[in-house]
Amino acid sequence: MSIPNSRVPLLLFISLMFFTSFPGLTLGAVVSLRSIEIFKTHEWLKATTTVYFLCKGENMTVLLDVKRPHAIYAFNGQESWQPLSNFSSKKCKRCGLYEEDSITLDDVFDEWEFCPSDFAAPDGEYIRFKEKEFNATFLCPECLSLAGVDEHDDGKGMHIAVVVLLSVLVSIILILGVVGAIKFWRKKLREQDRARLLKLFEDDDDIGDELGLGSAI
Ligand SMILES: *[C@@H]1O[C@H](CO)[C@@H](O)[C@H](O)[C@H]1NC(C)=O
Ligand SMILES: *[C@@H]1O[C@H](CO)[C@@H](O)[C@H](O)[C@H]1NC(C)=O
Ligand SMILES: *[C@@H]1O[C@H](CO)[C@@H](O)[C@H](O)[C@H]1NC(C)=O
Repeated sequence: MSIPNSRVPLLLFISLMFFTSFPGLTLGAVVSLRSIEIFKTHEWLKATTTVYFLCKGENMTVLLDVKRPHAIYAFNGQESWQPLSNFSSKKCKRCGLYEEDSITLDDVFDEWEFCPSDFAAPDGEYIRFKEKEFNATFLCPECLSLAGVDEHDDGKGMHIAVVVLLSVLVSIILILGVVGAIKFWRKKLREQDRARLLKLFEDDDDIGDELGLGSAI
């Protein structure tokens, strides 16, 4: 039968519709550092400093080039230590910017909740500024779609989901309708053929009767 075969492209179509409307669900979002300026160091003994970025539960990323305060360091995102981190959902991470301390515990520039929703349209840029400490610009274009997933919880998202669902349903009904119409049409043709054949046989019988009658005379 042709029906089971026609379900395969239908399923493909539905999953395609689903993943194109919720792209954040399928891809991880990579965060890179685009620029940073530190306004002071906490280290008294050394002329230069070692600054690193760390998210809880992940490995630290040492910002090798960042050595001096009051200099803007710009990055293109392809440096050996990039990306800084990544998000696989809209959930925030606890991250911070620290300075290695040769004697005591490492110093903290800042520690904060690092969230995909902080990255703003249109490019997915996020500027974290703390007075007298630092000014850093992070970039995560994919975070926009990740953060967009929680928009689906409110009215607009629901609206899109309903439209997608409705168009899928309408497509299914349309396809089933066409398949049904073709089947009905074929059945009708077959019935017509059979009727014509039967009529032919009946005609044959009539002819036979006539012939039989004719020969008896
Ligand atoms: C941290 O780095 C070590 C060695 O480089 C690696 O074995 C480990 O899996 C890393 N941990 C995470 C959470 O990435
Ligand atoms: C996401 O981050 C984890 C840990 O930092 C790393 O092991 C993994 O390879 C990263 N994935 C991507 C796609 O960058
Ligand atoms: C922080 O850095 C960004 C990018 O370099 C810049 O546009 C912004 O004006 C800076 N903000 C402050 C308060 O210095």
